[in-house]
Amino acid sequence: MAQSTLISPHGGSLVDRMASGADADALRQKAADSPKIELSAKQVCDLEMIATGAFSPLEGFVGPDDFTSICRDMRLSDGTVWPIPITLAVDDETKATLSEGGMAALHHPDGTLLAVIDIESIYAHDKKLEIPNVFGTEDEAHPGVKAVMDEGEWLVGGPVRVLTTEPESGDAERFETYRLSPAQTREAFSKLGWSRVAAFQTRNPIHRAHEYLCKCAQEICDGILIHPLVGETKPGDIPADVRMKCYETIIEHYFVADCTMLSVMPAAMRYAGPREAVLHALIRQNYGASHFIVGRDHAGVGDYYGTYDAQLIFNQFGRDEILVEPLRFEHAAWSHRAQGMVSAKTFPKIKDDQVFLSGTKVREMLSKGERPPGEFSRPEVADVLIEWASSTAATA
Ligand code: ADX
Repeated sequence: MAQSTLISPHGGSLVDRMASGADADALRQKAADSPKIELSAKQVCDLEMIATGAFSPLEGFVGPDDFTSICRDMRLSDGTVWPIPITLAVDDETKATLSEGGMAALHHPDGTLLAVIDIESIYAHDKKLEIPNVFGTEDEAHPGVKAVMDEGEWLVGGPVRVLTTEPESGDAERFETYRLSPAQTREAFSKLGWSRVAAFQTRNPIHRAHEYLCKCAQEICDGILIHPLVGETKPGDIPADVRMKCYETIIEHYFVADCTMLSVMPAAMRYAGPREAVLHALIRQNYGASHFIVGRDHAGVGDYYGTYDAQLIFNQFGRDEILVEPLRFEHAAWSHRAQGMVSAKTFPKIKDDQVFLSGTKVREMLSKGERPPGEFSRPEVADVLIEWASSTAATA
């Protein structure tokens, strides 16, 4: 019914690279005679994002023209906005088995045949171009920089056709009931009659500021899509299954079910701050969101990026180039004086009025079995985290 009222996917149409039926059987046969590439965890995530159209308009891993253009100008070579190159990096040994014009079988590390790629290009991985442009730093202490540094020295470009996104060994963190493709979230929004949909990206357990952002967005939209990233994250980040319990708990106790949807987003985290904010926004546009929440230091890590760099970057693009609308939020926190969540935009700054807790402090409290203050975290969420902290302490 309301399908036509939803935002267009980035680039105009939703890509679908899943193969099925006789097509899939033929691809399996070809794959058996093709050289094999074993994908990294990040590449497995990227493959699924391509397969389902979450990375529309990409149909595969980028070739050299797109790679250069993305790194330099945040655009595909045809001018479409695209901020981070989605690459298939391979080492010298694997590269020696491949040829342009040929195919390769893409395997999960557990051996599952996931996809085939039509190899259009094999080119040198210009990390000197990619790293400073995408991450704004070459510091190897940056987890995204380190991940690219560790990748192979060759890139393979070409369209993929995907047989399955599910490894045979099973993936404890698949969250099958929440794993909706862009086509499925769009269908769900249409059924609900939502056309103004705000999406919320997160890779952390949900706290009061997150909740506040989501609720502000709910006030001006038909509904919110809470859309946690569950693909690869850096060591030290809280596991996705624990975070999912936090989202379920807070939704159950503090959100209105009729205008709240929870679904997972299987991309890998790059920690690329501003550029990743643009990627996150375009992905959510593909999932059917008309609005996208960008708060303080979105997708940042350490202090590599300015607090609002991930908001300012959107000013570089025209409204007709990124259709999804960024909802920019100032740093929000609980104010004792206001008795509610505030930001510098909505309440005057008074010394020691606002509740700020560092991640380190919060972890310290949780590991001692203490709930952080209710002004920082809902008690039900704190209890999920305390249970996790005590079980990890017991197994450490
Ligand atoms: S992120 O890597 O996904 O950005 P996180 O899950 O912590 O990390 O943040 C999710 C979203 O909430 C991001 O848009 C981030 O900018 C925003 N955010 C987190 N904490 C705050 C806060 N206190 N005030 C405003 N925005 C915030």
